[in-house]
Amino acid sequence: MNLKSHSLFATIIILSFFLFLSFSSQAAKGGKKISSDLFGLFFEDINYSADGGLYAEMVQNRSFEYNPTEQKTWNPFSYWEYVAPGFSYGRINVETTAPIHPNNPHYVVLDVEHIGHEAKYTGISGVGIKNSGFEGMVVKANDKYDFSMFARQLGNEPVAFTICLQTLKGKILAQTTVSVAASDWKKYSATLIPSANCDTANLVILATNAGKVGLDLISLFPEKTFKNRPNGMRADLAQMLADMKPRFIRFPGGCLAHGDGLGNMYRWKNTIGPLETRKEQRNIWNYNQTAGLGYYEYFRFCEDIGAKPLPVLPAAVSCQNSGDTWRVGGTGQKALPMNEMQEYVQEVLDLIEWANGPVTSVWGAKRAAAGHPAPFNLQYIGIGNEDKITPEFEERFKMIFAAVKAKHPEVTVVGTVGPAPDGEDFTKGWKLADDLKVPIVDEHYYTSPEWFISHQNRYDSYKRNATEVYLGEYASWGNKLRNAIAEAAYMTSLERNGDVVRMASYAPLLAKKDFTQWKTDMIFFNNVKINPTPNYYVQKMFSANQGDYYFDKVILKDEKDQNLAASCVRDSKTGDIIVKMVNFGNAPKPMKINLGKFGSIASLAEQTVLSGEADAENTLDNPQKVSPVSSTVKVGKSFNYSAPAMSLTVVRIKTKK
Ligand code: AHR
Repeated sequence: MNLKSHSLFATIIILSFFLFLSFSSQAAKGGKKISSDLFGLFFEDINYSADGGLYAEMVQNRSFEYNPTEQKTWNPFSYWEYVAPGFSYGRINVETTAPIHPNNPHYVVLDVEHIGHEAKYTGISGVGIKNSGFEGMVVKANDKYDFSMFARQLGNEPVAFTICLQTLKGKILAQTTVSVAASDWKKYSATLIPSANCDTANLVILATNAGKVGLDLISLFPEKTFKNRPNGMRADLAQMLADMKPRFIRFPGGCLAHGDGLGNMYRWKNTIGPLETRKEQRNIWNYNQTAGLGYYEYFRFCEDIGAKPLPVLPAAVSCQNSGDTWRVGGTGQKALPMNEMQEYVQEVLDLIEWANGPVTSVWGAKRAAAGHPAPFNLQYIGIGNEDKITPEFEERFKMIFAAVKAKHPEVTVVGTVGPAPDGEDFTKGWKLADDLKVPIVDEHYYTSPEWFISHQNRYDSYKRNATEVYLGEYASWGNKLRNAIAEAAYMTSLERNGDVVRMASYAPLLAKKDFTQWKTDMIFFNNVKINPTPNYYVQKMFSANQGDYYFDKVILKDEKDQNLAASCVRDSKTGDIIVKMVNFGNAPKPMKINLGKFGSIASLAEQTVLSGEADAENTLDNPQKVSPVSSTVKVGKSFNYSAPAMSLTVVRIKTKK
């Protein structure tokens, strides 16, 4: 051993000694190591969460791909209108003969014959199309909006365009021009800067000279997206999610992932690459998904907010509820034929290479080409979503699981155990997981607040050092304060069992008012406003206050009263001790906090309380009716607390280092 390696060896020994000291001091104080990925988010494209929601695109049906299988009244020209102001005239068609890309087959052809005089009120004339967005477009005075369209000249002459934003009455808010002069599909871009605020603007694209052109993928984005990302997220909604400091995000959905029949499964490869090459499709919730918010954007968003990505891929079977609608007629779960399985397994492995592989690998190169040469550090991958545990499912799951384990032992597979907290699929799913030693399985339950209160001991008896739990979807039925507080009580039990519950996420996350398929959701929104429910605040109070060690016997309370719950964790990064106290009852209740085991603590702490009337809920017009109140409070080694009726209290205490 030379001098250099001697000193390296010594450093390692000293470091290990200090690590041991810090670990053993945690242990001596009775701390139990718990998951540091406990609370995260589950994003599903349900309730118009993606297009028309989190994805900031303002043009609806931008690629003319809407069709009647999505909604009976839809067609490729839905949400568009033919316009010819100033007594202009021409013709319009939707065509498919020479598209930009086979994945994007429809486009509009404008055949302009005559441009009239300038229309009186608007001062414009021409032949073109108008888009009404998702119930109108919200624009702000002096902000910048990025317009783009793909176009090709089909006649002999180049065609000049006026692009404008108009109010519903036709007043021009912003205007610019582009000129189409290439016979191949080409992207044309311009910036629009509105002169006034408007919540219901329309986008108008007008040819201003005679000629023939094809148009496709017509897009308008605010420049102010979350973190100013191009093709990014609606800033206010994304910020609400970022504020929760989630440790992970599961995406792109539950039922949406395994899809409505085999042809409708969410195939990640269709959602990456240039937007014009992505494949739009009906989603299981009966509307169109552009895939503009695709895998690249999901991974980028996770990175932007410091959350680990948890993509969920179908286990090569479709949703068992497939076809229970007017569309298909009841097909149930379908499995990919065995002769397609090799290719499908490869598709799963390719995702891992796309996320983590070097830029020199086939799929890593595609990630780099999209603008992210560094790996995304994918750690978890979900296979299947609350599938029926049939022999077909089992056969396919085993193949995928074995392949991931063999090629990527560094990636943790999350399996699935049906849609309910018990029952046939739950039992069969757990048996399979035990047999295969699947690292984590995904449990789901939507039920009454009373169920959450009376099942707080659910995970106390789960086997340790075996398959862990991801509680991937849960919610009590409703968005009143009492629902949220019942969930809070249950979440203290998730912390207590954080040595077997690795992750948990409330569901569904987002819901556009009047466009919902699921009644109870975490955040409601319209184009202008956001309504964070009491459930959101509970999730945020837990998620932004996670720890990695759990301590029992810190909070003394009436143990026989099921309405009372509490937990205490410590975040070893900051050293902070976090105490959470829940009262689901209708009268204040005493609790005693004993911090004796934690050494020196600061005398002032940050306290946040969510409380109110049991039936209180927030609305878009009154989003703060039920919201947490924060203050600085005095704390000591031991102090009393009166937990208000129907409340969650979080106290965050600094320790002196
Ligand atoms: O969260 C809504 C749906 O509930 C999910 O798509 C599905 O996994 C569950 O049944």
